Amino acid sequence: MAEELTGYTGPATMEKITSLAKRRGFVFQSSEIYGGQNGAWDYGPLGIELKNRIAANWWKAMTQLHDEIVGLDAAILMHPRTWEASGHVENFTDPLVDCKKCKTRFRADMVPDENLANKTCPECGGELTDTRKFNLMFKSHIGPTEDNAGLIYLRPETAQGIYVNYKNIIQSNRMKIPFGIAQIGKAFRNEIVTKNFIFRTCEFEQMEMQYFVKPGTDVEWFNEWKKRRWAYYEKLGVKMDHLRWHQHGPDELAHYAKDAYDIQYLFPMGWRELEGVHNRTNYDLTRHTEYSGKDLQYIDQDNNNDRYIPFIIETSAGLTRTLLMLICDAYDEEKVADKGDADDWRTVLRFHPVVAPVTVAMLPLMKKDGLAEMAQDMRNELKEDFATDYDQAGAIGRRYRRQDEAGTPFCVTVDYQSKEDGTVTLRYRDSMEQIRVPRTELAEKIRQEIKSYKRKA
Ligand code: GAP
Repeated sequence: MAEELTGYTGPATMEKITSLAKRRGFVFQSSEIYGGQNGAWDYGPLGIELKNRIAANWWKAMTQLHDEIVGLDAAILMHPRTWEASGHVENFTDPLVDCKKCKTRFRADMVPDENLANKTCPECGGELTDTRKFNLMFKSHIGPTEDNAGLIYLRPETAQGIYVNYKNIIQSNRMKIPFGIAQIGKAFRNEIVTKNFIFRTCEFEQMEMQYFVKPGTDVEWFNEWKKRRWAYYEKLGVKMDHLRWHQHGPDELAHYAKDAYDIQYLFPMGWRELEGVHNRTNYDLTRHTEYSGKDLQYIDQDNNNDRYIPFIIETSAGLTRTLLMLICDAYDEEKVADKGDADDWRTVLRFHPVVAPVTVAMLPLMKKDGLAEMAQDMRNELKEDFATDYDQAGAIGRRYRRQDEAGTPFCVTVDYQSKEDGTVTLRYRDSMEQIRVPRTELAEKIRQEIKSYKRKA
């Protein structure tokens, strides 16, 4: 798309990202041999490594680095009353219109006002239906009969699993307000528009944290979590001029929110939501109290046994959307030679080493003369501590390029000198600089480089 439309000026396009993701085994279309399944994607060998590392990095930031935040892994299938209480049965809808002629289905808020007003299809000029509400939750049935008694929903957000467990966690882990509960897991939405690769899908993963605070302190905590989430992306080395805040206007606010800000990222298709920070007030716990009949008040034992329903500050990021963001953010094309052919350029994914799918690749200069064995041996030493790869196929320059495209921050080359003096070549992905390092010091050197990593440009 043209720069003036999106504001994006980098080298990535969604076509390039989708093609690289498939070619290198990051992401495949679901059920591709049957023509693909709309809104669903499979994560290949590099994709699952990247996804796991993003999840681990978020988990560490939220739990290990916060004494007052604990984790949870709640079931996807929840009692259907949960979704009545949460307001999703009533309110979690998109406005829809259909074209009677070409049968295309549109989200009404994405149809130009003019077409909506005179009810003409923006694609074929056919007549549009009236706007109607469409609930985004997937329904299924549990048990042997397909009647309403067995109605069950696939969760559209992970948050509710946390709310229904908040008292269990207070009791089992003696949590005191303010405290948080973090969770990573699948969520499902029957999205009508699923373009832009994995940006908006029907099956996706969320990384959510719910922070329980005393009423009256919610605005302060809301601002604090906005700061923390911004700092998180900074630490991850994301291009900060590609991030901005967007406050929800009254027509955008979810039914549960008093205030909400999105962190938007400048994707190749323009600015889009990456994560939401929400002040959900005491809406959810109040509703669960009403619908379950259970007392969900917090008892403040340090304050004369004061009772109240806590307010909740939520940080909600898409894991799969963060993966797309990090690939777009890392994507670069760089001219590295001037021979006038395709080899002059390299494609490189400049991932932060803490999320790169492979940290170190071992490359013997030659297969013969014991170099392959020595490289394999070193890989075996390193694999306890790092995600490693091994490649002995083809010219060394080509192998570096393959690792650049996978985003591997460090390559280690074993050559004839290695046999003589026990040193190896450490090659840096970003600068392509090469230094010699004693084999015995390699692991420590890589550890230090990861710790002090700063993205250049
Ligand atoms: N619990 C609050 C909540 O779910 P949301 O803004 O609807 O809020 C939070 O979703 C995040 O989940 C979004 O910022 C986005 O990163 C991710 N997300 C939402 N819908 C998605 C979809 N259909 N596909 C991929 N990611 C999605």
